[in-house]
Amino acid sequence: MADARIFADLKKDHDNHRALLARIDETKDKGALEKLFIEFRTEVTAHAAAEEESLYSTMLAKPDLREEAQHSVSEHKEIEDYMEEMADHDAGSVKWNAIYAQLRKRYLHHIEEEEEEMFPEASDGLSDAEEKRLATVFEARKPAELKRAEKAIAEEEKA
Ligand SMILES: [Fe+2]
Ligand SMILES: [Fe+2]
Repeated sequence: MADARIFADLKKDHDNHRALLARIDETKDKGALEKLFIEFRTEVTAHAAAEEESLYSTMLAKPDLREEAQHSVSEHKEIEDYMEEMADHDAGSVKWNAIYAQLRKRYLHHIEEEEEEMFPEASDGLSDAEEKRLATVFEARKPAELKRAEKAIAEEEKA
């Protein structure tokens, strides 16, 4: 079912990511921009990890859903690379803005594709029991992954 809890959980995160991008778009202050970017990066890193540990690991195990899952996982890596690159530049600088423009475009494409293609296909190919289990896994992994991402990003900032 397309309105299953796992898909509602994922969509809710995506809406939060869209809101964070909109806030980044209208922020000019360097300090505020830095904080917002760290918030976005932490949240998206944790979301993608928990999404892979729940939905995508299950899709990868199913031949009919494998290709879609591989596509999304490779986009996660692409997004991660953009965010890593941005972290090397001053928030709001010309270079930072140029990478941000790419990241923003690619990430909005990614979550739209998930909502319009991956989730409906997964929903067709998964049983109700599997969907229920995935929601439980995602809801347990997301806070754990947030802690992990927070720690990893803070350590990178110090380095
Ligand atoms: Fe994703
Ligand atoms: Fe997602």
